[in-house]
Amino acid sequence: METAEVLIPEDASLTELRGIAAGCTACDLHETGTQTVFGEGPADARLVVVGEQPGDLEDQTGEPFVGPAGAELDRGFEAAGIDRSLVYVTNTVKHFKWSERRGKRRIHEKPNSIEIRSCLPWLHAEVARVEPDVVLLLGATAGKALLGSGFRVTKQRGEVLEGPDGRPTVATVHPSSILRSRSDDQRAEARAAFQADLAVVAAVLAGEEVA
Ligand code: URA
Repeated sequence: METAEVLIPEDASLTELRGIAAGCTACDLHETGTQTVFGEGPADARLVVVGEQPGDLEDQTGEPFVGPAGAELDRGFEAAGIDRSLVYVTNTVKHFKWSERRGKRRIHEKPNSIEIRSCLPWLHAEVARVEPDVVLLLGATAGKALLGSGFRVTKQRGEVLEGPDGRPTVATVHPSSILRSRSDDQRAEARAAFQADLAVVAAVLAGEEVA
C-alpha cells in the first residue's frame, strides 16, 4: 500500500474514518504502535490543531495530547482565551514510533518522510470533514507536512498563512519544546512566545483582521 488514500471513502463521515483508520497498515508504524491515535474533538470544531505523532501515553490511551505536551497546549489555550470545546486535536502521523526503552518509558522517534506521506491522507480527510475556520500547526513536522518542505517554524511562526484548501493557518513551535527549555527563564520566554502565537489564532477565530 502506497499511502492511506486507498482506504478513505470520499463520503465517509469523521466517525467512519476513525473506525477505518483503526485498522490502517499503510506504513510499518502499525507494528510499533499499540493502536491508531485518531483526532479527537467535535466534528464542527472551529479550530483544528495538528501535532507530530502520539507519544507513549497517547499510544496507551488512544487519545491525542493527553500527556505533558497536551497540558502545555491546554495552558496555551487558556492564556489565549481559546475555548477547548471548539478544538479538534490531531496529529500528522497517527501511530507512535519508538525503538528504545528507558526505564518504563518508550522514547519517541521522529517519523520519516515515508511514514508522513503514508499517513497524510488521514489528516487531509479530517480537515476536509471538520472544515475549521483556522488550522494550527505545532512544530516542524506538521508545518512541513501541510505547508511544504520550505516551511521554517522560526521564520513563519505566528503569521496567518494559507494552509489546506486555502484555510487560514498559523504555525508555532511544538509545546514539547517548551518543556525541554534549559532554565526557568527560557521556559517562561518560550511559553510567552507560544501563547502570543495562540493569541493570533484567537484573533482570527474572533474575526479580527490579522496582518
Ligand atoms: N506530541 C504530539 O505531537 N502529539 C501528541 O498527541 C502527543 C505529543
